[in-house]
Amino acid sequence: MEKLTIKTNRILIRNLQLNDLDNFHRYRSNPSVTQYQGFDVMDKKECETFIQSQTDKLFGKKGEWVQYGIENKSTQQLIGDCAIKLQEEDPRIAEIGITISHLEQKKGFAKEAMLGILYFLFEEKKIHRVKEIVDVENIASIKLMESIGFRKEGHFIENIFFKGKWGSEFQYAMLHSEWKKIKL
Ligand SMILES: CC(C)(COP(=O)(O)OP(=O)(O)OC[C@H]1O[C@@H](n2cnc3c(N)ncnc32)[C@H](O)[C@@H]1OP(=O)(O)O)[C@@H](O)C(=O)NCCC(=O)NCCS
Repeated sequence: MEKLTIKTNRILIRNLQLNDLDNFHRYRSNPSVTQYQGFDVMDKKECETFIQSQTDKLFGKKGEWVQYGIENKSTQQLIGDCAIKLQEEDPRIAEIGITISHLEQKKGFAKEAMLGILYFLFEEKKIHRVKEIVDVENIASIKLMESIGFRKEGHFIENIFFKGKWGSEFQYAMLHSEWKKIKL
């Protein structure tokens, strides 16, 4: 197990830390950001408790979601977060998720972060398969998945009771062999 650090041109992905609190709370308290996510808007105390629960987590433990901070290297400010889980039954399979602050969206940060994460998982950790599940109404996330080259492999119909109604989801995945072909 190890501390995860991923660097791309503009971004540093690393453990969340307490001085991220103001930036983290700014977007985690925004309903437009949490609309399609498994969690609801969070108040500052909930954000603080959450960050504290993540600061010391290491990469490599099976079955555990770890949420990492996405920092803009030039401003050294948190602009979003991402999560990685290695599957309990087979840790060669990973699931990921990402959030970019409403103040920093549509600047290519999610795509850059995802490509950094995929490089880390496929090239360094020799992961076999990476998947992400998205709400069918989450247009930004669907565009992100397709722009990176994820393959849509599942469409679950009203499979999740979610924020007061039944929701449907797409499952996207990429295999190591597919990454080798689409790597940008
Ligand atoms: C989904 C999300 C992470 C995208 O972040 P982002 O930094 O704005 O995305 P990028 O700027 O890297 O854009 C990636 C691609 O998606 C497209 N895109 C992003 N947001 C879009 C939108 N709202 N509508 C249409 N296309 C969009 C971009 O045009 C780009 O496509 P391209 O590479 O073909 O030009 C961001 O909207 C978000 O955090 N949403 C709320 C949280 C969430 O729902 N996360 C997903 C659940 S796990």
